[in-house]
Amino acid sequence: MQRPKTQDERDLVLYESRLLRPVRMKTPEFERNGRIRHVIFSGQFTAPFLDELGGIADMIRILSKSRAGQDFLINLLPHRRAMLYFTQPSTRTFLSFSAACQILGMTCNEVRDPSTSSETKGETRFDSIRMFSSYFDVIIMRSPIARLAESCAYLMNDLELSGSRTVPILNAGSGADEHPTQALLDIYTLQRSFQFDSPKDSPAANRFDDLRERKGYPGLTKGLAQKTYGFCGDIGRGRTVRSLAMLLALYENARLVFVSPDHPTLSMREDLRERLVDRNVRFYEFDSFDEMLDGKPVIEQLDALYMTRIQKEHNNPQDAASLAGIDFSRYCLTPEMVGRMKEYAPILHPFPRDQHFGEVPPEIDNDPRAMYFRQARNGMWIRAALLAHVFDVDRLISRHFMTEYLERHNYND
Ligand code: NCD
Repeated sequence: MQRPKTQDERDLVLYESRLLRPVRMKTPEFERNGRIRHVIFSGQFTAPFLDELGGIADMIRILSKSRAGQDFLINLLPHRRAMLYFTQPSTRTFLSFSAACQILGMTCNEVRDPSTSSETKGETRFDSIRMFSSYFDVIIMRSPIARLAESCAYLMNDLELSGSRTVPILNAGSGADEHPTQALLDIYTLQRSFQFDSPKDSPAANRFDDLRERKGYPGLTKGLAQKTYGFCGDIGRGRTVRSLAMLLALYENARLVFVSPDHPTLSMREDLRERLVDRNVRFYEFDSFDEMLDGKPVIEQLDALYMTRIQKEHNNPQDAASLAGIDFSRYCLTPEMVGRMKEYAPILHPFPRDQHFGEVPPEIDNDPRAMYFRQARNGMWIRAALLAHVFDVDRLISRHFMTEYLERHNYND
């Protein structure tokens, strides 16, 4: 390894031995009193936690429909301030986090362009983070540097040991590494889809029983277990894919199918492959939707499909020739392909979609299986639920919901 030149690089090296440990050793360090404090990677979450958080998100969403509910929520955290430190482009994650803060009454501030901060005067990122922790109560950060958020969580933990003020770190995307809160909203969207409760959340325009009995899906069950999940596009560099795959691995008999060009940059990286093998997940790597799975083309076998864009902004010049030889149209959905999918199979995409590449063309938007706009809105509810968990007001929300709300809206009427 080259000798680190800058203090920023030396700071990262300082944490290297901690960064290299297995996830199960790190997880307890990101918790306090049985609650998650720092949200760094999706491997921290358990299936019961995902159910609980989805439940809180549902309550926030229902309460937000009334003025009285909004007033209750906005009075939960008016004494808390958030710093949104986003030095990599973002639309949805940034805005949905700031909307989530507003729902709970938190105020937010932002640094999006490091050229407007003292980093241009030579300040290290770790000094910046420490400064933010003096003014704010949580730091929500997105960075092109993998593992920076994790290192900042260690910085906070070390400061805590020395008795200094510290705040939770929420990872809103760290390089090609992880995007745990995107995985939360993806899971929440799948949870709602596979409850088959509302035609709005579930692509099934029909009731669950109809689907199973009359439409020929006898094996279909409610919930996320026993399903085949497809991922398509840039599997190698897509941090959302990495984080979501680790969560789907928590569900019994979940099978994962990765469809990407057979190219070292775009197909699955060895570390994700190792993690999936470690967890005994059944997964398949294909380079086309027409490859066969259980005797049928993959596209017809999926219970849900997660599309992604090709992250061309990360292309390196050495790859130019080999990438130019790939037929990328095989990784773009068409209405004809959607027509071959199961009638209830939701189509997700973390967005942004690439209008030039066309992995999900707008002709598909009106198909009831297209969930991506609802998925983005779900991000606001689940991020509000996560902030409620981190600041320990989630139980206040469920208590309020049970007493005030359910009593007034008697569902037996
Ligand atoms: C993604 C990201 O930034 O990783 N977007 C998002 O957060 N919704 C996906 C992408 O940029 O392709």
